[in-house]
Amino acid sequence: MSVLKFSHTKIYINLGYTKTAITKKLEYKMEKIAIVYWSGTGNTEKMCGFVKNGIEGAGGEAVVYTADNFDKSKVSGYSKIALGCPSMGDEVLEEDVFEPMFSSIESDLAGKKIALFGSYGWGDGEWMRSWEKRCRSIGATLVSDGVIANEFPNDQEAADCKTLGANLVKA
Ligand SMILES: Cc1cc2nc3c(=O)[nH]c(=O)nc-3n(C[C@H](O)[C@H](O)[C@H](O)COP(=O)(O)O)c2cc1C
Repeated sequence: MSVLKFSHTKIYINLGYTKTAITKKLEYKMEKIAIVYWSGTGNTEKMCGFVKNGIEGAGGEAVVYTADNFDKSKVSGYSKIALGCPSMGDEVLEEDVFEPMFSSIESDLAGKKIALFGSYGWGDGEWMRSWEKRCRSIGATLVSDGVIANEFPNDQEAADCKTLGANLVKA
């Protein structure tokens, strides 16, 4: 967890005729949240950017990983993780990189607060419903329903991604 340190601040209290200066050191702890995603044509990557905006807008710090750069050893550093993957194959997670990474960390997600997002094409979001079910069954807490975008995120979907990020900070 990183700590933002502000310089010593003087607070003046007016006690009738006396002005008392109290010097107080302010510390604000910024929460680090991981965003781990895979994207083939950039749509889920775009969503990742909006989730990041939402986290930062709510006062958190986002650390972004592509799926090939995240593994079991990194999970313990985060109590909150956003995961992004499009619908691939036949309503499944991307199978070459994301699915193996997710399978390898899934047992460590028990007790973590997580948020899911991803883009899809011609389906109806079935892959996201299966993914949510899978996450709940391993004991992870979903901070809200997964956010899905039909191909490139539109304005509403972008806003939903930002809300998802903010919800993770507040969770
Ligand atoms: C090999 C392949 C399989 C796909 N399978 C599905 C699918 O089962 N259901 C669906 O809704 N979209 C499917 N899509 C569409 C992608 O989910 C969609 O284009 C998405 O926007 C890709 O996200 P990305 O730009 O982050 O890679 C598939 C796309 C590809 C290339």
